[in-house]
Amino acid sequence: MSGPGAIVVLTGAGISAESGIDTFRDKGGIWERHRIEDVATPEAFARDPAAVHVFYNDRRRQLVGGDVRPNAAHHALARLETSWPDEVFVVTQNIDDLHERAGSRNLIHMHGELCKARGARCGVVIARDEDLTVETPCTSCGTSGALRPHVVWFGEMPLELERTYAALGSCALFVAIGTSGNVYPAAGFVTEARQAGHAHTVELNLEPSAGETLFAERHYGRASEVVPAFVERLLASETIEGSGT
Ligand code: APR
Repeated sequence: MSGPGAIVVLTGAGISAESGIDTFRDKGGIWERHRIEDVATPEAFARDPAAVHVFYNDRRRQLVGGDVRPNAAHHALARLETSWPDEVFVVTQNIDDLHERAGSRNLIHMHGELCKARGARCGVVIARDEDLTVETPCTSCGTSGALRPHVVWFGEMPLELERTYAALGSCALFVAIGTSGNVYPAAGFVTEARQAGHAHTVELNLEPSAGETLFAERHYGRASEVVPAFVERLLASETIEGSGT
């Protein structure tokens, strides 16, 4: 007998908000304090790499500083991955490592990872918790100043899209958590899951996202509350449609 079906979960900054990490477009969010053109484009890095390093160094120090931890929403998704009878695949827009620290394994970071750096010339990706500067030598090719944050900037191609679209085309349930639905291609995943995968679609968010009407089911509230409740209902019923009860 076949199982209840695979689940794809898309997460955004809202799932990490209660862990103390700022979102981008909420009041007081990151894009109210910084211009994308100054810190999150390849042109910004070419023009003023030191300013871009300061922006990511500040965010990395907060993440590795010690008091940022996964919250109940991250832990609920890790529990879903271990307890659901079919595949659970998390594709996150976040560059923090809170999903990993909560125990999620079947996970990709489509916008890269804050605690990794990449050789701008040789392409090598290395783990990096410390600050990056324009003098930091690349550990692979030795070139000074060639290391950049392993983060996908605006205008660059998100990572592992082929694997993501394959998962969207074969899942029975697509869940979007803590994302405003403003940035593509992630904002289009719900449509892909519905059209290619005929999936049931659920939005779990603090408030309706830009793509609200695209979802068959919606629950609003703080991720640390609505995500564990949703996961518990799903695991109790072990059926996809039953999660809507
Ligand atoms: N619980 C659930 N949802 C929350 C919470 C919370 N505690 N706090 C905020 N949210 C919701 C907000 O209502 C909003 O819809 O999380 C969403 C955050 O939206 P954004 O700040 O736009 O973040 P995100 O959708 O992840 O941005 C996508 O844009 O700037 C780029 O690369 C960046 O990955 C990012 C992408």
